[in-house]
Amino acid sequence: MWRARGGAGGPGTLEIGRERRRRRRRRRRRRKRHLRYFPHLALSPRVGSAVLSGSLSSPSPLRTMSPSERLVLVLGGAGTVGSGIVKSLLDRGFHVAVISRDGARLEKLRSFVPASALPHLHTVVGDVGTEDGAEQAKAELLKGGRKVTDVVSSLGLSWWQGGPPHMQTLQELQKVLETLLLSTFTSWKVFFPLVKDNPEGSYTFITGGAGEHLLMPGTGFLTLGAAGALAFCQVVREEYPKVPCKLNEVKINMGVSTSERLAPGFISHLEVGKAVASLVEKRSVSHTVLNANSPADLQTLISQGWL
Ligand SMILES: NC(=O)c1ccc[n+]([C@@H]2O[C@H](COP(=O)([O-])OP(=O)(O)OC[C@H]3O[C@@H](n4cnc5c(N)ncnc54)[C@H](OP(=O)(O)O)[C@@H]3O)[C@@H](O)[C@H]2O)c1
Repeated sequence: MWRARGGAGGPGTLEIGRERRRRRRRRRRRRKRHLRYFPHLALSPRVGSAVLSGSLSSPSPLRTMSPSERLVLVLGGAGTVGSGIVKSLLDRGFHVAVISRDGARLEKLRSFVPASALPHLHTVVGDVGTEDGAEQAKAELLKGGRKVTDVVSSLGLSWWQGGPPHMQTLQELQKVLETLLLSTFTSWKVFFPLVKDNPEGSYTFITGGAGEHLLMPGTGFLTLGAAGALAFCQVVREEYPKVPCKLNEVKINMGVSTSERLAPGFISHLEVGKAVASLVEKRSVSHTVLNANSPADLQTLISQGWL
């Protein structure tokens, strides 16, 4: 058979056939090696294209940074959701930085985390709600040559129920928008450049379901602010489809509280923290909205790093 084909086309055809087979073998070996470094590509067609934009452009898949080499800035890290994220990241060995407007809240956070983790926690008093304030906080944070590898943005407020719109002032609406939407924008503008070109880095937004529906009478401004934050995350995903860093949103469609205040229907900020820490550590997906609708979703996120 080989001889006949070679004979028909001359010795050159045989050579071409061999070369083709060699190339095919090389391609197969390359794919095998590739799947060893990016096993999630083989696991899930759902995340395939999203991951392609981030992970495949990674120039150095051979060595990944360990948590102790990574510094995660948790914006809103002194808040209800943020403090759970900070503790879980520290538990996994990450260095963590937190910026808060209130030194007393930072002190409370320092007493909340285990004493053994304190050398890994870096706190800065600052206001990231304006571009200048965020730049100042950044300068303070980067003193001494610190390098931020990841950002988790958990800015906002836990709850707002000031009443129906006709009873509100423009000032009140501005306050809610500043806290939920505008600070998310100003801090993103200043801190995203620190991580966006790093294939080993990440930027994760924390959002909630309040933006999609009026939760109950009198919570309208919460819905407006939270909807703005959801839309902003979408804008960033769509405007920057090919950034090398992992860009994700964790949308928590449940009430979150600290362990002391846990009530029926709420989940602990520590469970949310473990899920977000796992996402940041595993870096399995990008440009993805991870909808946590139940405690079971959080458990999946904790074990897999994606949903
Ligand atoms: N709590 C829930 O039930 C729940 C559920 C689902 C989703 N979420 C989402 O989780 C996010 C955080 O909510 P949360 O409950 O943790 O609220 P929170 O307890 O009020 O914490 C929010 C944090 O944002 C910080 N912040 C706001 N504006 C800032 C600024 N200009 N500069 C610096 N820090 C600023 C605050 O820092 P300071 O220390 O400076 O005040 C505060 O620590 C929100 O996006 C919310 O939609 C919450």
